[in-house]
Amino acid sequence: MIGTGYVGLVSGACFADFGHVVTCVDKDASKIERLEQGIMPIYEPGLDQLVAKNVKEERLFFTTDPADAIKNADAVFIAVGTPSRRGDGHADLSYVYGAAEEIAQLMDGYTVVVTKSTVPVGTGDEVEEIIRKTRPDAEFAVVSNPEFLREGAAIKDFKVPDRVVVGTEEERAKEVMSELYRPLYLNETPILFTARRTSELIKYAANAFLAVKITFINEIADLCEKVGANVQEVSRGIGLDNRIGKKFLNAGPGYGGSCFPKDTLALTKTANDHGAPIRIVDTVVEVNAARKKAMATKIIDAMGGDVSGKTIGMLGLAFKPNTDDMRDAPSLDIIPALQAAGAKVRAYDPESMKEASHMLEDVVFCDGPYHAIEGADAMVIVTEWDQFRALDLDRAKTMLNENIVVDLRNIYAPADMAKRGFKYVSVGRE
Ligand code: UDX
Repeated sequence: MIGTGYVGLVSGACFADFGHVVTCVDKDASKIERLEQGIMPIYEPGLDQLVAKNVKEERLFFTTDPADAIKNADAVFIAVGTPSRRGDGHADLSYVYGAAEEIAQLMDGYTVVVTKSTVPVGTGDEVEEIIRKTRPDAEFAVVSNPEFLREGAAIKDFKVPDRVVVGTEEERAKEVMSELYRPLYLNETPILFTARRTSELIKYAANAFLAVKITFINEIADLCEKVGANVQEVSRGIGLDNRIGKKFLNAGPGYGGSCFPKDTLALTKTANDHGAPIRIVDTVVEVNAARKKAMATKIIDAMGGDVSGKTIGMLGLAFKPNTDDMRDAPSLDIIPALQAAGAKVRAYDPESMKEASHMLEDVVFCDGPYHAIEGADAMVIVTEWDQFRALDLDRAKTMLNENIVVDLRNIYAPADMAKRGFKYVSVGRE
């Protein structure tokens, strides 16, 4: 497994837990050293135990030296980063190509080279070309095998997936991939074999579709606020239609994270480059970016239109619960906008404060939710961590200077909040 980022580490640990022998390779020596000591580079529930168990049972190894790992491998996964290239939004493939070259130099005997990183359509062809050029004699196949892991639920998503997509038309590679995922056959997980380019596109199409779904319900929520309807009931009302489905219809402050923002952008670039624009996704990218900024205005309006000199207690900073990931989190747009309007921000997040402290200025990071709202003129829910759902609201009320709650995740019931004497503003509900 080349790359011990989110995808590489979770996939490596899960494959090891399936019973395979996995070596995770990373150039970052201190990361490998920490992993060997059982210290995880990311927060993902259950990952530390899974790594520890498989290290102990000698199926999972970490190294900075790819030579032995690649030489002895039946399959080598490329799970390196593909960040958005500065300026044009295209995925930066230099790490993928670098890994391909390295694998080519080191592999020995028939090797299946699998791209797990999210890569634009046609990248598999490039990887194949690089390997062939570097090692004209090599016996290999290049396969696309996209990941569909949600942060916070990544282990479950790997072990109990809705489907596995494998992009290759070569029989020998199919056999190796089937063997790797064999434990899933027992659960009757559909394993979809497609052409490589199709598989590459499936990943982008899936993420873009989900981003469209979220943005759609977010705009319906805005309309609900204008016409006096309830977006949660609209979601339920449409979601019970099996053709639409219930999931990913929660209105909120806009999507963030490591995948949706990057992948929607990369897809629109590819589509435009090929003269087949996907205008719905262009619009979604634009609407979502504007929405994150608009959330600051929503908070300011709820506080009477002027927040200058006021204090806001923020609960949640990460782009979603059960992760410490701050990438493209709505809080990164909301907090600076509130500060620019003159507000002071106190914040608490169970996992992401360390990460957030590098990305935000002048925020008072607090020891817990009650500490964050102490003396604040409003409490704002930005991320729906379970512990905020179960907050003692009467205690919260005694801590707040003014009884204003802005809930960007709809975790409380409007009627209950009114009964408790809060001025309560949520998303798409009266
Ligand atoms: C996503 C995909 O789900 C996963 O399959 C892919 O491989 C990587 O990207 P992830 O980014 O971890 O996973 O989080 P996800 O749970 O999908 O949430 C993404 C964003 O959408 C979050 O900001 C979340 O708050 C938001 N969201 C999600 C909503 O606003 N409403 C919803 O109903 C669902």
